[in-house]
Amino acid sequence: MTSWVIVFLVLAGGLFAFKIVYVLATAGALPVTRGALYVSTSRIRIRAFLEAVPMSSDQVLYDLGCGDGRVLRAAGRRYGVKAEGWDVNVLAYLNARLRCFFRPGLRVRFGDFRAVDLGGADVVFCYLFPDVMKDLAAKLERELTPGARVISANFPLPGWSPDRVIRPEPARHADPIFIYRAPEAAADRS
Ligand SMILES: C[S@@+](CC[C@H](N)C(=O)[O-])C[C@H]1O[C@@H](n2cnc3c(N)ncnc32)[C@H](O)[C@@H]1O
Repeated sequence: MTSWVIVFLVLAGGLFAFKIVYVLATAGALPVTRGALYVSTSRIRIRAFLEAVPMSSDQVLYDLGCGDGRVLRAAGRRYGVKAEGWDVNVLAYLNARLRCFFRPGLRVRFGDFRAVDLGGADVVFCYLFPDVMKDLAAKLERELTPGARVISANFPLPGWSPDRVIRPEPARHADPIFIYRAPEAAADRS
C-alpha cells in the first residue's frame, strides 16, 4: 500500500470518528437543546452584531449555548468585556474550554443555561432554536435588568420588539440578527 493511501485512510478514519462523537454528543444534549445543534455563528455575523452593540470593559456578556466559545472570545477581544457561556453539548463545552483557557475574563461552564439566573448580564447573545424562544423570552423578561441588550441570531423573541434587525452581507450570512433591549416590565419581579 502506498503512503498516500495510508494517509487517506487515517484522515478518513479520523473524520468518521469525529462525526460519530459529534452525533453522540448532539443526541445526548437533545432533550435539553430541543433542536439547537452545535453549529457556530460565522465570524462575519459576529463582527456585525458586535459593531451594532458597543460595549464597555466593565460589562458582562453571556452566550446562552456558547458552542466553541467564539462569541465570548470575539467580544472579549473587541471590547475587553467579561464573558461567560454555557453549553450542554459535551463536545462544544470541551472545545470552548480549550479555546478560552488562556483568555482572562472568559468563563465556560458545562450545563443548562435555563438553570442560571441571567440577572448578571449586561448583554445576552443566543443562537438557539424556535421551539425554545418563547420560554427564553419569559425568562429574560423576569431576570434581566431593564435596558440590558439581547441579541438573538436567526430567531426572534416572541412578544418582544427589536430595536434593530441586521442582515450582514454577503447574502449567505444575511439571516436576521435581532437586537433588543430588555423591557421595563423586567423590573416587576413578583
Ligand atoms: C447554534 S449553536 C450556537 C453556538 C454559539 N453560540 C455560536 O453562536 O457560535 C447552539 C448551542 O446551544 C447549546 N444549547 C442549546 N440549548 C442549551 C441549553 N438549554 N443549555 C446549554 N446549552 C444549550 C447547544 O448545545 C449548541 O451548542
